[in-house]
Amino acid sequence: MASAAGIAAAGRCLAAGGLAAFPTETVYGLGADARHGQAVARLYAAKGRPAFNPLIAHVADRAAARRLGMFNPVAERLAEAFWPGPLTLVLPRRKDCPVSELALAGLDSIAVRVPAHPVARALLEEVGAPIVAPSANRSGHVSPTTAMHVLHDLRGRIDLVVDGGPCTVGLESTIISCLGEPALLRAGGLPRAEIERVLGSALSESAPGRAPRAPGMLASHYAPKARLRLNAEDARDGEALLAFGPAVPAARGPMLNLSPRGDLVEAAANLFAHLRALDASGAASIAVMPVPHHGLGEAINDRLARAAAPKV
Ligand code: TXA
Ligand code: MG
Repeated sequence: MASAAGIAAAGRCLAAGGLAAFPTETVYGLGADARHGQAVARLYAAKGRPAFNPLIAHVADRAAARRLGMFNPVAERLAEAFWPGPLTLVLPRRKDCPVSELALAGLDSIAVRVPAHPVARALLEEVGAPIVAPSANRSGHVSPTTAMHVLHDLRGRIDLVVDGGPCTVGLESTIISCLGEPALLRAGGLPRAEIERVLGSALSESAPGRAPRAPGMLASHYAPKARLRLNAEDARDGEALLAFGPAVPAARGPMLNLSPRGDLVEAAANLFAHLRALDASGAASIAVMPVPHHGLGEAINDRLARAAAPKV
């Protein structure tokens, strides 16, 4: 578990231009000092991430966020309601924004988030600067929700990982564009309905193929090695089974249940760890039972669809 000494070590590592992975309430992030171009370049290399895919800047509070991007009244309302928490806002970037150009992939917008996890917050305080942090996995892989997952993907490519135990949300942050009318760029750990309640109106979705999408939302992503068969009512011979709810068909290979009681919050927290575990069982195919689409189900189904998409 994260100690004060571990957090201090991560702070020194980031200040020296190093790469430190740390827990957030959503998934583990791979951090670099956002102002340090060389550190950001190393971060892209460590993940194997294409440089056209910009990073989220993590900050301690709204005052720090205001030094990076410009808030319209909707952005203010969302930040007031949901920060700290699993929400990322895409804002027009300020001219004097200190974040490295490389981290922004040349866009004139910036994605900003104030995380709620105590370790992330302590680290931000220690560093006193924005920390850019993508999910701490190899590009295209399933996001990590434990320190072990991070090491599995990135051991030898990063300087350290602060272990804060399993992430409680388990899905990446919800991304909302506040560049014009608010738009959902990525379903995530904050359910759409909660955002719509605060906005008092339905949230538009940015149409596929039309800007602004989150550039990282490629069709194939979050991909295990095994093939995924979605909306499965049964498991076939040799297939692993990713179940949901109390009524589970007979397993004919390894089986894990996202939530035996059919709870979407529990299912979200288990999703990536279960996908990794079933993938590690060596099964060539994973049958996935249907997951309801409301609440966190929207983001769970989004990640499952990407994990099932043909790999490019
Ligand atoms: O929960 C999370 O958001 C985690 C934790 C570590 O904070 N981070 C995370 O980062 O999921 P990453 O890099 O795996 O995903 C960030 C997404 C990418 O799809 C990226 O394209 C998008 O955010 N993004 C970043 N800047 C953007 C911008 N200016 N406009 C639109 N999308 C942006
Ligand atoms: Mg990611």
